[in-house]
Amino acid sequence: MTYFALALGTSTRNQDGKIIEAWYPQPIVEPADTLVAAITKTIKHESGNEAHVLEKEHYRPLIEIFKEAQLTLNVKLLEAAKSSDQTLVLTILESDSAPVSVAEGYLKLQLLSHRLAKPQQINLEGIFGILHNIAWTSEGPIDLPELPERQIDARTNGRILEVNCIDKFPKMADYVVPSGIRIGDTARVRLGAHLGEGTTVMHAGFVNFNAGTEAVSMIEGRVSAGVLVGNGSDVGGGASIMGTLSGGGKEVVSMGENCLLGANSGTGIPLGDRCTIEAGLYITAGTKVTLLDSNKEATGTVKARDLAGKSDLLFWRNAVTGRVECLTNKSAIELNSELHTHN
Ligand SMILES: CC(C)(COP(=O)(O)OP(=O)(O)OC[C@H]1O[C@@H](n2cnc3c(N)ncnc32)[C@H](O)[C@@H]1OP(=O)(O)O)[C@@H](O)C(=O)NCCC(=O)NCCS
Repeated sequence: MTYFALALGTSTRNQDGKIIEAWYPQPIVEPADTLVAAITKTIKHESGNEAHVLEKEHYRPLIEIFKEAQLTLNVKLLEAAKSSDQTLVLTILESDSAPVSVAEGYLKLQLLSHRLAKPQQINLEGIFGILHNIAWTSEGPIDLPELPERQIDARTNGRILEVNCIDKFPKMADYVVPSGIRIGDTARVRLGAHLGEGTTVMHAGFVNFNAGTEAVSMIEGRVSAGVLVGNGSDVGGGASIMGTLSGGGKEVVSMGENCLLGANSGTGIPLGDRCTIEAGLYITAGTKVTLLDSNKEATGTVKARDLAGKSDLLFWRNAVTGRVECLTNKSAIELNSELHTHN
């Protein structure tokens, strides 16, 4: 049976000894059976999903196993940890069931950010309840109840503990920077975001966990949890794609290829390919939309949800009547190639 994933990493524990975060430099999905067999035998993993805290005696055999599998970052981590106080965890996921520990939850988020899984493809059920609300500080992650003591310790030793954010999800870039991307402000991309090769997230852009882009995209607005933006699609400044985490929405909103959400626009329906929403227009599922033919004559009215997933549409709010209208948009949006270059 093929295992779902495994990864070797470092972890931070709170004062009770509980793991509150884990970093995996080189996670593996669907590891080879031979690799699984060698690892599970070495650390005596019987079955199921588990995060094993390694003993130092495991390091040497694991180094040989990872060398054989050419997983060089894992070899480097083990070599470096030999002479450090940092204990390592080896998280083994036999199946993609709902995460039950912090170490498992962090592995799944890193699978997404390493592009080893796409948004909505893996089971993250209940992850909010598992993760700790952590103070991400200049001295690393600190479990919130321990923050005042750590501040006292820092101040009385002439240091200022800078708290960058309080969140269950850290910033992605502290864990992984996938190839071919630019991020204006790394705090705006959470761990668990999936940024495809060729994506730029500008300073005001935001990408949530379990959300992201397929490939080349310019993100200047908000990509909510669950949303996947197709290759060649842009999310304009201040634009947003409705998420499903709050507000009762059930349908996952995605965008196909070569779409443009104009500045300050938004969509609550999934878009097909080559769709444009005019700057400033927010389309929700119930928005009444007047359909226009190629002569811009009205041919009928539908609810926006009836147009979900359809391609070649241009939505605008009629500048004279205020009516929301939709016409076929055959001229695919030309992306400015210079804007998207990452070299
Ligand atoms: C909706 C949008 C795509 C239309 O752009 P366009 O196709 O270049 O449109 P044009 O301005 O050339 O207008 C084409 C025609 O549509 C008409 N039109 C455009 N917007 C209209 C509106 N809101 N109501 C009525 N007619 C409209 C124009 O009057 C023009 O009519 P004509 O052919 O009779 O002269 C554009 O206004 C827009 O919002 N782009 C988003 C850009 C953006 O925000 N990018 C992200 C930056 S961060």
